[in-house]
Amino acid sequence: MCGIVGYIGNKNSKDILIGGLSELEYRGYDSAGIAILTNGKIDTFKAIGKLVNLEEKVKDLEVDGLSVGIGHTRWATHGSPTELNAHPHLGEFSYVVHNGIIENYKELKESLISDGVKFLSQTDTEVIVHLYEKNFAKLDDELKAFEKTISQLDGAYAILLITKSDDKKIFFAKHGSPMIVGNSEDEIYFGSSDAALLGKASEVIYLEDGEYGYTSFGEIKLFNKDEEVALNKKPLVGDKISAQKSGFRFFMEKEIYEQSDVLSDAILGRVSDDKIIFDELESDFFDSVNHIKICACGTSYHSALSASYLLERDAKIPTTVEIASEFRYKEPLLSLDTLFIVISQSGETADTLEALKMAKRAGLKTLAICNVDNSSIVRGADFSIMTRAGIEKGVASTKAFATQVIVLWMLSLYLAQKRDSITKDKLQDEIKAIKHIPAATIVKDELHQQLKRLSKRYLHGHGFFFIGRDIFFPLALEGALKLKEISYLHAEGYPAGEMKHGPIALADSELFTVALIPKTLLYDKVKSNVEELCARDVTLLAISPEPFDLADDFIKTDSHTHPMGEFFEMMVVTQLLALEISIRVGNDVDMPRNLAKSVTVE
Ligand code: AGP
Repeated sequence: MCGIVGYIGNKNSKDILIGGLSELEYRGYDSAGIAILTNGKIDTFKAIGKLVNLEEKVKDLEVDGLSVGIGHTRWATHGSPTELNAHPHLGEFSYVVHNGIIENYKELKESLISDGVKFLSQTDTEVIVHLYEKNFAKLDDELKAFEKTISQLDGAYAILLITKSDDKKIFFAKHGSPMIVGNSEDEIYFGSSDAALLGKASEVIYLEDGEYGYTSFGEIKLFNKDEEVALNKKPLVGDKISAQKSGFRFFMEKEIYEQSDVLSDAILGRVSDDKIIFDELESDFFDSVNHIKICACGTSYHSALSASYLLERDAKIPTTVEIASEFRYKEPLLSLDTLFIVISQSGETADTLEALKMAKRAGLKTLAICNVDNSSIVRGADFSIMTRAGIEKGVASTKAFATQVIVLWMLSLYLAQKRDSITKDKLQDEIKAIKHIPAATIVKDELHQQLKRLSKRYLHGHGFFFIGRDIFFPLALEGALKLKEISYLHAEGYPAGEMKHGPIALADSELFTVALIPKTLLYDKVKSNVEELCARDVTLLAISPEPFDLADDFIKTDSHTHPMGEFFEMMVVTQLLALEISIRVGNDVDMPRNLAKSVTVE
């Protein structure tokens, strides 16, 4: 999704803005632009496509001394990806970058057009800059004009505005889209995510909805409802090196290899020999909870589905799972004894965030499972459990999914121990299985090489079915999503037992079937479902610890005593398969077409 950066200081603002935007590339974008104001002179550059195109355009720009700059990577929502639609948007003497959606832009645009304003773009954002200049013409005060402007906007926004009439300031506002202000001594930085500020700012302020203000060299003024508010600065933690590729071909590949480590981090301090501990939760928080509803999107939805099996099986709590974008408009009936869980890697997904707000309005207890601290979803929920996956740059989520699942597994056991729905012996077995997961997810060179080789046989055909039962059904959905996201090949996840209710009609030798056949869970049932498909001559890639004679290709997994051990090992196999197919078809694995890392619009 779109990214924002900003800077005021004596360093080379061109390099800082481009560097910040490159750190936000992982969010997905289709055009980019910057505007730099030095002593009343403005330079703006925009380019469609990758950031290198923008870099080429700015290469001759010299920036010396104190300068003020804003930059943006755009993922098209209103209007196609063109230079005119790229940010910054300009008025007569002011420039703006914006993330989010201005819902009342049509009304505002009509009124501005009737005042004689000419619009250059098809975007909702452009109204902001013209509205600001109209307000400035009346009020003759930059801050007042900015305040008035944001009070006229409906929707979600994070905004940076610079203007020639006060050329040493950046005006900013946040409502519903993330924005962070950072500083290091007198230098001031802006970013729509931490990633843009790592290695630059030492302290940051995570802006809250409704906050706005301005920064000048060495100064940050923050307001909320006309009142100045104190700056709540926090140290910026995180290291830049882990945000780099460290020798892997793609971030996604690096992130698959990191899973063993981040899974260790996710369980650290949360499992002792005989119990599960979540210090971040109040012990009576789950009292009076009789139902659980989980809302999420995409991969996070798949981890929610896996959790629904575990929560019912271990904690004995009826659990339903909903896709957040469906939940929002179904006029759901919510009862106060329901715990509402939202799962999100980014913590900024608009549909999930809105579902959370709905649950809060209905008075439900809310819990976020999230990877980004201080994100909107974390701030909005009563309690949060961080998944500790570290920055995930590949648009196709891997390690974030892995850590979500292990956290949810621990949560179901935590609830089981609270409600006495699990015996001591069973809990100890589960804990032993959890501790084994980091080892089960280490990528073996032999496995990776085998997948690299066999991937060449799966580049054609008329589609893939990933099939599994029980918790392996959500894993099949996730395997199919991974493959389609980065290879652009058609893939579907299906419950193995459901194939004969329709999809088996597609079966022929050009239908690739990836079958998840664990030994510890419903082995015979899945096996006979797969045999039915083989009888229709599908091309079969079987993933199982048990040899499967009918398979065209066979990936032998280790023997495990617990189904979750098999789950995590098979997860790695499906991720590597998607990765290698995508590389063979020549796609940009980390930034697949049409996708964004963080979907902050509905
Ligand atoms: C994952 O590979 C996807 N890119 C996507 O489905 C993602 O999981 C979804 O948009 C939800 O994102 P979130 O976890 O940040 O809320």
